[in-house]
Amino acid sequence: MTDKPIGRLAGKTAVVTGAGGAPDLLGVGAAIAALYAREGANVALVDISAQRAAHTQAVIAAAGGVSEVFQADITSHKACVRALADCAARFGGVDILVNNAALYANPSMADDEAGVRRLMDVNLFGTMNMTEAARPHLAKAGGGAILNIGSIVGLRGVHGPAYSASKGATAAYTRATAHLFGREGIRVNYIAPGHIVAPQSATADAKTRNLLRNANLLGVEGDARDVAEAALFLASDAARFITAVVLPVDGGVTATTPSGMAYAILQSASKD
Ligand SMILES: NC(=O)c1ccc[n+]([C@@H]2O[C@H](COP(=O)([O-])OP(=O)(O)OC[C@H]3O[C@@H](n4cnc5c(N)ncnc54)[C@H](O)[C@@H]3O)[C@@H](O)[C@H]2O)c1
Repeated sequence: MTDKPIGRLAGKTAVVTGAGGAPDLLGVGAAIAALYAREGANVALVDISAQRAAHTQAVIAAAGGVSEVFQADITSHKACVRALADCAARFGGVDILVNNAALYANPSMADDEAGVRRLMDVNLFGTMNMTEAARPHLAKAGGGAILNIGSIVGLRGVHGPAYSASKGATAAYTRATAHLFGREGIRVNYIAPGHIVAPQSATADAKTRNLLRNANLLGVEGDARDVAEAALFLASDAARFITAVVLPVDGGVTATTPSGMAYAILQSASKD
C-alpha cells in the first residue's frame, strides 16, 4: 500500500460513481475516491444516496482532501449529463471517470424480470450513461481516463448469470469505447476485482471467506484498497500507454484452473 501521497493526480478532477460509503465496511468507490483525493485530485462523489456520499466526503475532508457530493441516479442519462456539467463547473473540467456504482443480485427473467432489468439498468446502462456524459468533458481537457469496475464473474462463468452478463457486457463496452475514444486521448480500462472483502460480498460467512481466500494463488484476502491502488495507477499519467485492458485484481484466481484452485485449497487445509 502507498504510505505517502506523492500527488500522482495533482491538478486532476475525478468523477467516481457509487462513491458513497458507511462507517462499517469500506466500499470500492469510497476507497477509490479517498485515495484519489489523497493523491491530489478534486473528487466528485456521485451516488444515488446523498447520505452515503456525504459520509465519504467527511472522510476525505478529515484527511485534508477536496471533494463534492453530486447526488444522481446513473440510470438517468439526463441526471448524468447534469452531474458532469455541475462537476466541470465546480472544478473547471473533468479528467477521470470511474464507473463503479453497481447492484449485486441474482434475479432470473422467470421469477423477477424487473430485477434483471434493474440490474442491467444500473450496471451496464448506468456505465454507458456516465461514459457518454463524460466524453465531451474529457475530450475538452485534451484526453483523460475512464475506468470501469467490473468483476471476474464478467470474465468467467460463475453463479448469478444476470450479474455476470452485466459485468461481461461492460468488459465488451470497455474495449469498444477504448477503440472509439482513443484518438481523443481518452483511455478506457476495466478492473476485475475477485473475491474481496467489500459491502457487496459482506454476507459471506467465515467459512466461505476462508475458502475463497485459500482458492487464490496468494492465500491472502483482498479488499477495496487493493482495487483502489490499481485504479490509481490506471487513472494516472503513469498508465498513458495503457488502454482497453482488463486487469484482474484477484490474487491470481482467473489465471488458474479449477483443479489448480482445488489443489491450493487442499494445501491450505493441510496446514490448518
Ligand atoms: N464486493 C465485492 O466482492 C466485489 C467483487 C467484484 C466486483 N465488485 C464491484 O465493485 C464495485 C463496488 O462494490 P462494493 O461492494 O463496494 O459496492 P457498494 O454496494 O458498497 O457500493 C455501490 C454504491 O453504488 C451506489 N449506487 C447504487 N445504485 C446507484 C445508482 N443507480 N446511481 C448511483 N449510485 C448508485 C450505492 O448507493 C453504493 O454507494 C461494484 O461495481 C461491484 O460490482 C465488488
